[in-house]
Amino acid sequence: MSNVKFDHLFAPLQVGPMRVPNRVCETTNTINSSMSQGMIDEFFIAHHIAKAKGGTGWIGSETWLLNMPFPPETPDEIGLSIGCAAHEALYMYPAFAEGMKKFVDEVHKEGSVAVVQLTQLNSVWAPSPVPVVGAQSYTPHVMGEAEIEFCFNVYAEAAKVAMATGADGIEIHCAHETVGYSFLSPVTNRRSDRWGGGPQERVLFVVEALKRVKGVIGDKLALGIRINGEEFRAGGYDNMQMREMLYAIAETGLLDFVDIDTGHCWGAASYVPSSYHPHAEFREIGKAAKADLAEMPKPPAVLFTGRINDPVLAEELLREGYCDLVGMVRAGIADPDFANKAKEGRLGEIRRCIACTRCIDEASESLYIPYTPMCSINPIVGNELRWQQQYKPAEKAKRVVVVGGGLAGCEAARIATMRGHKVTLIEQGKRLGGQLLLSSKAPGRDSFEDQIYFEENEMARLGVDVRLETAADVAAIKALSPDAVVIATGAAPRVPHDVSGLELPHVVQGWEVMKGKVQTGQRVAVVSQEDYFETPCIAEYLASKGKQVTIFHKNVHLGWEIARYSIAMMLARMEQCGIDVHPNLVLTKIEAKALEFVSALGKQTYRKEGFDSVVLVYGAVAQPALYDQLKADGSIAQLYLAGSAWLPRRMAEATRHGANIGLVI
Ligand SMILES: Cc1cc2nc3c(=O)[nH]c(=O)nc-3n(C[C@H](O)[C@H](O)[C@H](O)COP(=O)(O)O)c2cc1C
Repeated sequence: MSNVKFDHLFAPLQVGPMRVPNRVCETTNTINSSMSQGMIDEFFIAHHIAKAKGGTGWIGSETWLLNMPFPPETPDEIGLSIGCAAHEALYMYPAFAEGMKKFVDEVHKEGSVAVVQLTQLNSVWAPSPVPVVGAQSYTPHVMGEAEIEFCFNVYAEAAKVAMATGADGIEIHCAHETVGYSFLSPVTNRRSDRWGGGPQERVLFVVEALKRVKGVIGDKLALGIRINGEEFRAGGYDNMQMREMLYAIAETGLLDFVDIDTGHCWGAASYVPSSYHPHAEFREIGKAAKADLAEMPKPPAVLFTGRINDPVLAEELLREGYCDLVGMVRAGIADPDFANKAKEGRLGEIRRCIACTRCIDEASESLYIPYTPMCSINPIVGNELRWQQQYKPAEKAKRVVVVGGGLAGCEAARIATMRGHKVTLIEQGKRLGGQLLLSSKAPGRDSFEDQIYFEENEMARLGVDVRLETAADVAAIKALSPDAVVIATGAAPRVPHDVSGLELPHVVQGWEVMKGKVQTGQRVAVVSQEDYFETPCIAEYLASKGKQVTIFHKNVHLGWEIARYSIAMMLARMEQCGIDVHPNLVLTKIEAKALEFVSALGKQTYRKEGFDSVVLVYGAVAQPALYDQLKADGSIAQLYLAGSAWLPRRMAEATRHGANIGLVI
């Protein structure tokens, strides 16, 4: 039990007419938890209410995308479309408002407040003909006076709906990806009419939008904006200009709160900062805003967000005047109960977000159809309803043996033990963690070790019999007389079958490098057929050891499966480390002094020289041999194959698979 005091974190705060029960805020996160796209259904409610039940005081749930039509006299391109131009938007539908009302009622039952975020996306229309984010090549339609007026009316209409649902506050989204942001930024607002010019002119759109919403909600709901603390892009506003603009907006007296995040949806820095960013990296931006606004008669509350995953850090930020409210989105995705656990002194039980960005990657470019929200370490995300229905204490306490202490094995052991089974977990290595032990060694990935600590703590707390440095075979398992066995023996690096020269001494596997089992020479060729983070992490690890690294990659670009919120950070790191990347190449032959490739696109061949070592990163192959042997033996009543031992995928899949097995034993 911790004796850390949270005097600030759990103190209520009056924000305009809204009384927030504590300072823990789920700022808006469109994780798409609803199964009926964009509507508010029982899945949505279960996902976000889990956070309210877990002690989060401010529930921002998911954004409301507002309508932004094609020219009014023409029909929409494809009818009602989410994120595209459409006369209609979901908030206009009675079923949406009914769902939202039900949700808000549930939020209130938990003693929390519900804040609605209103978003006008800037991808289709914007103040000036400037592409909005680095990765977007098309130029938005330039808004005329009538369209600007239309936009204000839409904010007001949406505010009416929000008010009718019983929501407590409204946030106009004026950061990244929004029309409001595009008006504030000197990069995207080049207008010479009254809506453009210096900072004092560029705020006018936001001020007018606030006035229109205020005209609807009066003093019944709290009103605020979300704003990007600094653009970090060429020609963009810096923090001083942002402060000037924020001050000008706040001087109107229209703001009850300002919600500050930092960065873009594409690029480094991303406003959903990955593990490569320090915790609360831009905290000084919050502090400066708070100090500026404190001069006002009724200063708006400052909400600050950005990789805060720990209640102790949140308390510190509040205590030291960095903000009045703390945004903790992924902290609640990783562990919706983190606030209550902190309050009850159970800090060691908190599963801390490791900032792998799988949640936002999945929300922006899903791997799965139908889409499901994902978290690498919390198996329940997106499955809340199923877990509510299926999680039951075991009818009979069984003796369970789990072989393999990676994520799948640990989760199977954890959930089975929580349900009342007696579990022995056998791991051949010195420590739990499996592949996490490797990935957490890569530069900027040390936070991945937090999940290992979590599993270690949980095993100790729950009383799992963990046997490290222990080999398991059929006889050893049978000697434990188990009722159920889970084989989570993981995967091994894939060895390509169509490359000659693999037996040469300078050819090694990436995993062996990360384990520290092999050393490489100075000039390293990393040859990859892997499309997520493994290749860049291994390359960066080598670069951090002073090696000169070149990546030869099969796909059209490195990190093909990394989505737009994270890819730029990864590519930027490759650039900073001086790693040379060659896409579209398939290795065919290794010689002592040369490598031969064929183009992945055609028949052209290439010969590359000048490498002392070749490091292979070809993904992984399942290792189910022990499962097959036990199955053939036939004496185990319940036998399961879990995680990468069945199918090597990513962390989230291993976590879910293991946990789901724990649920059904
Ligand atoms: C899955 C996901 C979806 C998000 N969607 C939105 C959104 O619709 N609007 C928004 O302003 N921010 C959105 N965010 C950003 C969060 O509000 C928050 O600023 C960000 O996650 C950083 O906070 P954290 O480090 O506490 O997670 C999203 C974040 C995540 C993880």
